[in-house]
Amino acid sequence: MTESRLALFSPQETDLPAFVELDRLCLGGMWSLDGYRREWESAKGFLLGLRDNDGLRGVGAFWQILEEAHITLLMVHPQYRGRGWGRLLLLALLAEARRRQLERATLEVRASNQVARDLYFSLGFRLAGTRKNYYDDPAEDAQILWLNGLQTPIWERRWETHWREQETRLAAQGLTLTALGEALLYNGAKLSPGI
Ligand SMILES: CC(C)(COP(=O)(O)OP(=O)(O)OC[C@H]1O[C@@H](n2cnc3c(N)ncnc32)[C@H](O)[C@@H]1OP(=O)(O)O)[C@@H](O)C(=O)NCCC(=O)NCCS
Repeated sequence: MTESRLALFSPQETDLPAFVELDRLCLGGMWSLDGYRREWESAKGFLLGLRDNDGLRGVGAFWQILEEAHITLLMVHPQYRGRGWGRLLLLALLAEARRRQLERATLEVRASNQVARDLYFSLGFRLAGTRKNYYDDPAEDAQILWLNGLQTPIWERRWETHWREQETRLAAQGLTLTALGEALLYNGAKLSPGI
């Protein structure tokens, strides 16, 4: 029987069309292939995929500006939501931000996106302000959230607790978590290095 695996991976260029396809499904086509390629090529960008045995299930990204991680993307395939995979991706982004010595993370979220807001708040993000009518289709305010203290021991301990909870959750789903690619160096996360 094939083992069921969930893999966090740094994409190759040939993976990017699948990212565009998932983007269409989750976000109505926020970034084109060129957009993904820009993120992928730049040392300031960080692009992360999550896949199971059958294909791409989630994507996360941030853009590094000075000592800040600007989280630009977080999405999970609609049929695979509510399993902790979005939380896992976000924790992985924050681990990479910490590894890059970044001090804080920020993002914008639709005021009505309760699921995403709950996720961010549960990891310690706090509301810092609002951008009026930031989004179109439908027009809506963006809430600006920040998470400070990524380099503090308190955050490190909190991250590890959250990460272990996700590992337990995945084990209960019969899944083994794996990391693929050079960028995925999760100190303390004990990911096995590749399939
Ligand atoms: C936001 C998104 C990535 C979350 O992915 P997910 O895999 O479903 O999230 P998880 O299962 O890890 O859940 C994380 C938290 O979100 C909240 N959440 C998830 N599903 C929820 C639901 N149906 N109702 C309320 N809250 C929910 C909970 O706080 C949950 O934590 P918990 O499982 O410990 O209770 C996913 O809903 C998505 O792709 N949405 C469309 C794109 C998007 O809006 N991205 C965010 C832009 S800022």
